[in-house]
Amino acid sequence: MRRPRAHSLPESDTTVRTASPQDASAPLARSQARAAVAALRKHGVRPPGRLLDLCAGLGRQARSLAEAGYRPLGVDIRHDDEIRAAWTATSRRRSQPHFLAADARALPLRGPFDAVLLLHNSLSLFHTNDDAMAVLREIRRVIAPRGVLLIDNVCRRLWQEIAAGRYADGISEDGLWQMIWLPGRNVFALRYAENVRADRPRPGRGEVLYRAWSLDELELLCRLTGWSLQPQSLRQGLLVARPQE
Ligand SMILES: C[S@@+](CC[C@H](N)C(=O)[O-])C[C@H]1O[C@@H](n2cnc3c(N)ncnc32)[C@H](O)[C@@H]1O
Repeated sequence: MRRPRAHSLPESDTTVRTASPQDASAPLARSQARAAVAALRKHGVRPPGRLLDLCAGLGRQARSLAEAGYRPLGVDIRHDDEIRAAWTATSRRRSQPHFLAADARALPLRGPFDAVLLLHNSLSLFHTNDDAMAVLREIRRVIAPRGVLLIDNVCRRLWQEIAAGRYADGISEDGLWQMIWLPGRNVFALRYAENVRADRPRPGRGEVLYRAWSLDELELLCRLTGWSLQPQSLRQGLLVARPQE
């Protein structure tokens, strides 16, 4: 069987074997932050703005947004030592994104926010319809009437990769990444580096699952939760949604 070429979910711009998934995806995170700043400007959200970076992780995009003059609030469900240390270091800087530990499906916030960002495959982490809709409804609740939601267009890249046969046997050509699909569902686990195990073709307990949303599904979810997906964004790296009027 033809070996798949190095792929881009998450971005494998680097071939450094010892890199963490976080390092491997750093170029993608940076380019998404640049694209997000451009999209915010295009849609009239000017610094400092009221921004919510949902599923913010260690704050990579929030830091880039702060450098561009915005004052984002980062929200993530994690509140372990690593994330606390990252956000403490971040908020010592002059341009300070703020952080809150919370579940995106039940936000302890009222808003309104001018823009909400859901970047770097984060929507894929909500892999049931109910969970994804809960997140979209919560964002709809806290968005300003003319606010904007930016979601990275993970489906476009992912489905291109799959259509190109790059995951035909589940492991990338460089051996760094492995996708393991749940039988009969478009949900998969992703293994990296030393966790790649060809002899374990089923996700183990505790492995994070991702939903390979299609654009049609996202369009439907948005429609059902009060969003209207801007058609011109469908071909681009970032999806732009506005509250339905
Ligand atoms: C793929 S990471 C993206 C992090 C960040 N945007 C970046 O690019 O560095 C997804 C993040 O979503 C967070 N997350 C997962 N489930 C969540 C939930 N229910 N509510 C809030 N955050 C959640 C995870 O803890 C993780 O940090």
